[in-house]
Amino acid sequence: MSIDLSGRVAIVTGAGGGLGRSHALALARYGARVVVNDMSAAGADAVATEIRAEGGEAIAWICSVTDREAVQAMVTDAVDRWGSIDIVVNNAGILRDRTFAKMDLDDFAAVIDVHLMGSVNVTKAAWPYMREQAYGRVIFTTSSSGLYGNFGQSNYSAAKMALVGLMQTLALEGEKSGIRVNCLAPSAATQMTEGLYSDEALRGLGSDLVSPGVVALSAEDAPTRTILLAGAGAFEQAHVTMTRGVYVGAAPDAAEQVQASWAEISNRSAEQVPASGAAQYNHEVQHPGRIGRGRCCARRGGLKRRGARLLLHGSSSSILFDKVL
Ligand SMILES: NC(=O)c1ccc[n+]([C@@H]2O[C@H](COP(=O)([O-])OP(=O)(O)OC[C@H]3O[C@@H](n4cnc5c(N)ncnc54)[C@H](O)[C@@H]3O)[C@@H](O)[C@H]2O)c1
Repeated sequence: MSIDLSGRVAIVTGAGGGLGRSHALALARYGARVVVNDMSAAGADAVATEIRAEGGEAIAWICSVTDREAVQAMVTDAVDRWGSIDIVVNNAGILRDRTFAKMDLDDFAAVIDVHLMGSVNVTKAAWPYMREQAYGRVIFTTSSSGLYGNFGQSNYSAAKMALVGLMQTLALEGEKSGIRVNCLAPSAATQMTEGLYSDEALRGLGSDLVSPGVVALSAEDAPTRTILLAGAGAFEQAHVTMTRGVYVGAAPDAAEQVQASWAEISNRSAEQVPASGAAQYNHEVQHPGRIGRGRCCARRGGLKRRGARLLLHGSSSSILFDKVL
């Protein structure tokens, strides 16, 4: 199955070097026209020139992803120039590493601003065009530091996991408009990882080995709501899951029961990947332990049983529940 991005218009942020450069080159090689964004004019110009030298189409757009007006102008220019905006690769990033104890809050905010709000700004500017054309592919760059934690990176971890939450909801909201939204968690030897890991640990981690994942997530038959991990030519998927858990109820010793049930609560054998946040509520009110004990408050008014399913009435959560049910 071959991927063809001819006629597609892509913006890659932070594409003046590192992973962004590699993503921009890869998308262009598959036929996309690419806006090469970066704060560094030298970097962005060089990458746009490199793409054109290979016969592709690219322009450099110099601005910070934190500058909303400039970002809006970049997206509008791409649409005016090439007729659409089909692919957004939110890649721009910075580090301000320190342990949380020593972290300056300005450094915490700066990292949130570039990674989270920068991605929000670019995606928000492209979103109306994608909805209008009923097509879009959005990629957020998350990180193993967000997914699993990393010493000295509380700001970065928080920003990167926030992007997973953003992706989860935008994938749901974009679905009916043909917009697919995914996350990429890369591993690559770049200026960002220089000094962070040893040369030995970084061996084999070329940026170009990550970019095929970006091309796949930019393709027409891309998945949605996926967290793709990529590094050294290997690709994996991360999931945010929910275990089956236990039902404790309103027992006087509920806290002690929770404490005594950690093994069962954390047992992953019947784990699921919820289709949306509402699945948690649904799972809890329908928990086999709860239904089994016949303590379902449905019979006491608030909830009505309909076969094996429950509908919540007269509550602000009803839309949420009705959707899941
Ligand atoms: N390298 C890795 O192993 C790794 C791991 C996990 C996540 N990431 C993420 O991948 C992305 C790319 O990282 P990289 O390793 O290529 O780093 P890099 O430092 O080589 O590249 C980042 C690029 O973003 C640009 N940039 C920074 N702030 C910007 C802003 N406000 N507006 C526009 N451009 C800006 C920089 O000028 C630079 O060209 C980042 O989001 C990073 O957090 C990288």
